[in-house]
Amino acid sequence: MHATTTLASLTGRTAVQQPYWPDPEAVEAVERELARLPVLTTEEETADLMAGMDLVARGSALLVQGGDCAERFDEAVPALVRQKADTLQGLAAAVRAGTGLPTVAIGRIAGQYGKPRSSPFETEDSGSGRRMPSYCGDAVNEPQFEPAARTPDPRRLLTAYTCSRLVLEELRRSWSGRPALERIYTSHELLLLPYERPLVRSGAHGAYSGSAHFGWIGERTRREDGAHIALARAVRNPVGVKLGPSASPEDAVALSRSLNPEGLPGRLTFIVRFGAKEVNRLLPPLVRAVARHGAPVVWLCDPMHGNGLKLHGQKTRLLEPMRAETASFVRALRAYGQWPAGLHLELTPDPVTECVSERDDPPRFTDYRSTCDPRLNPGQSAEMVAHFLSLL
Ligand code: PEP
Ligand code: CO
Repeated sequence: MHATTTLASLTGRTAVQQPYWPDPEAVEAVERELARLPVLTTEEETADLMAGMDLVARGSALLVQGGDCAERFDEAVPALVRQKADTLQGLAAAVRAGTGLPTVAIGRIAGQYGKPRSSPFETEDSGSGRRMPSYCGDAVNEPQFEPAARTPDPRRLLTAYTCSRLVLEELRRSWSGRPALERIYTSHELLLLPYERPLVRSGAHGAYSGSAHFGWIGERTRREDGAHIALARAVRNPVGVKLGPSASPEDAVALSRSLNPEGLPGRLTFIVRFGAKEVNRLLPPLVRAVARHGAPVVWLCDPMHGNGLKLHGQKTRLLEPMRAETASFVRALRAYGQWPAGLHLELTPDPVTECVSERDDPPRFTDYRSTCDPRLNPGQSAEMVAHFLSLL
């Protein structure tokens, strides 16, 4: 795992889910600029997280990963970062208190600025028929349904770097003096290659990503021969892969081996998001196959991304299927002697009503702010964590 093989292995592979950049040369210029900037996260911090993930993999610690679906540039200010850090620390503290186990906290924070989309274009809701490129996260374009806002602008990748640094600096202030296991580590989806590639650097122990402590590959970009999996394979950071209903047990075994050839506990996390309807049918055989034939993995339950629906024109998620999927997750892991390591949640410190209960009839979306997927508010997040603890 050296920097040269890293970069070689990232060229010539198919990269899906990349925005349509109108000016490819401008993208290359930005990539060169990013290559000259310092890393955001250090190799030492990443090694500290790896030590925590090793405990998680061995069943001696738990993990809470959470934050926005899509961070916004204008939220990279100390007061808001503090609120997000406090929310996540509160959830990790609840897990520690409930289990007596160390609990690693990883934010979807300080870099979660790029989004994969089911469709590259979006048609206006009002029925005008206007079609625009989809919003792909603040690192690419803006959510307003206007041509200028929606046109991908590669300079925004540099703003993503700057905002990530501001957020990270505030997180570091919030940790200072705390033990390594009580920090908030950073993570985001490793999606936008002109951003991720130049932040892969060679360190004392091989190549690593300096864009975040932990990076994951999304459900839409995890093809084995694609550029994203090559990127994850090339770095020494702990990495994750989202697995949804189209992932077969054979796919999961193959991914576990190719991403964790040395069999390091904590190196690879499978973030499973099958949805409450499919989880009982699809997860048990997958866990069984990986436990028998795969490399060691940390199993994390994402009860959000398989349970999306539209209610009264609003993208939402119901709490009851999320709870049901979490219960099915714990049961499937237990059935094969594996450790249900924790939860991956989309959440916010704001008192939003983006996710709702089946009992709210009609649902009232009085405070909906997410520009992407619906998030849990603080009460709902605490309830999900309490539910998970009640299952252990
Ligand atoms: C996400 O985590 O916001 C996301 C897009 O997830 P997935 O890749 O699981 O769909
Ligand atoms: Co999301």
